Amino acid sequence: QISEAEVALFSVSSYACQRRTTLDNHNSNLTDALSLLAENAELSNEDGRGVAFRRAAALLKALPTQVISISQTRGLPCLGEHSLRVIKDVLENGVSSEVESTKQSKRYKALKILTGIFGVGAKTADRWIREGIYNLEQLRDSGQTLNRAQKAGLEHYDDLNEPVTKAEADAIGEIVQKAVNSVLPGSEVALTGGFRRGKLTGHDVDFLITHPEEGKEVGLMPKVVAWLESQGFLLYQKTTRNSYLESKDGPARPASNMDRFERCFSIFKLTKRKEQESTQPEEQNDLKTEDILRPHMQADTDQQLCELSKNYQMEAASHKIWRAVRVDLVVSPISQFAFAVLGWTGSKLFERELRRWAGHEKNMSLSSHALFDNTQNKYLRATSEEEIFAYLGLEYIPPSERNA
Ligand code: GTP
Ligand code: MN
Ligand code: MN
Repeated sequence: QISEAEVALFSVSSYACQRRTTLDNHNSNLTDALSLLAENAELSNEDGRGVAFRRAAALLKALPTQVISISQTRGLPCLGEHSLRVIKDVLENGVSSEVESTKQSKRYKALKILTGIFGVGAKTADRWIREGIYNLEQLRDSGQTLNRAQKAGLEHYDDLNEPVTKAEADAIGEIVQKAVNSVLPGSEVALTGGFRRGKLTGHDVDFLITHPEEGKEVGLMPKVVAWLESQGFLLYQKTTRNSYLESKDGPARPASNMDRFERCFSIFKLTKRKEQESTQPEEQNDLKTEDILRPHMQADTDQQLCELSKNYQMEAASHKIWRAVRVDLVVSPISQFAFAVLGWTGSKLFERELRRWAGHEKNMSLSSHALFDNTQNKYLRATSEEEIFAYLGLEYIPPSERNA
C-alpha cells in the first residue's frame, strides 16, 4: 500500500492543445486499454463514447510519471466514470475485464479484420457482419460487390496492414518531391501526419504540397498524379476535392479558395531498394524459370513440372521486390499553408482539441484552411504555425509534443 505522501498529484490542463505530449508514454498499460475501448466505440459508431475514451487516454499520455494508484487520478480532468473504472481495473488486476472481453468478442475481431481493408469503414463492416461475414475468406466467398478502393485494399491487405517505417516514408518523400519538381519547379513538399510528430512508424505517409506563388498550385494534383502514374509508382489513386469545403458548418470562405484544396488517397508501389541490393545477388535478378527448374529436371511428368513452377512462383512472391504503401497527398495554396500544415500534422485528438479551444474559449473557428474570429468577424492571416498558436492564445507546442 502506498501512503498519501508518496503519491504525486498532477495538475494538468483539460485541453490536449495546452499539454505537451511526447511519444514517451509512462502509462501505456492504461492508455492501451482505453484506446482499445475508444476504437471499439468508433467502430460501433458510438463517437461520443469514443471521444471520451480518447480524451482519457490522451490525458494519461501527458502525465510525467506512471500512475500506480487510483488516488493519483484525483483532481485530474478528462477522466469520466467509465474510464476511471477501466483504470482501476488495470491498476488492481493488471488487465481490464471489459477490454479482455471486447478483444475476444467475435464482433470486435471481425470489425478489426474488415476495417483493416482500405476503403472499408465501420458502417460497411457492420453491414457485412450482419450478413454473416466475419473474415476475408467469407468476404471473398460472399460475392459482395466491392468498390475500386476496397478491391485494391483486399489485394494489398497484408502490405497495408504492415506499419510503414520512417525509411520508407523518406523514400516516398523523395519520389513525391521528384514528381512535384518535374511538373511544377519551385513547388514545396512537406511531410505531415505522424511522421512529422516523430513517430517511427505509421499506417500511411502524409504529404502537403504547395507553391510559394499563390495560384501556381491550381491544377497541380492531377499533374502530380499523372507523373506518378506514368512512372509506375501508383497501384491505386483517387483524387477528391476536400469535403470540408462543401460542409455547411464551417465559416464562409472566399469563393476563390473553393477548388484549390485537393486530396489524393493513394497506394504507392514502393521498391524495396536496400533489401533488394543486400539480399539478392546481381545475377539472380535475371533468373528464368528454366534456371530454377534445371537442378530439379528429374521432373518427367507435366504435373511435377507444374508443381515446380508453382514453387518458383511462391519463391518469387516471397522475394517480392516491392510493397504497397498508403500515401495521402494534399495540395494547398500558400496562403492557407500554415493552417494546412497545422491541420494535417495531428494527432487527430490534438486537432479536435485545438478546434474545441478555438470555439469554446476564443470564439474563433479553426480549420485546415483558415482561422476566423467570430468576434471581430474577420479572418486572421498566418504564415507559420507559431502565429496561429499566438492568435489562439496558446503556448506554441512543437509537432513532437502533439502526440495526444
Ligand atoms: P498514422 O498515419 O496512423 O501514423 O497517424 P496520423 O496521425 O498520421 O493519422 P492520419 O494519417 O490519419 O492523419 C493525419 C492528420 O491529418 C490528422 O491530424 C488528421 O486529423 C488529419 N486528417 C485526416 N483526414 C483529414 C481530412 O479529410 N481533412 C482534414 N482537414 N484533415 C484530415
Ligand atoms: Mn498518417
Ligand atoms: Mn493520412
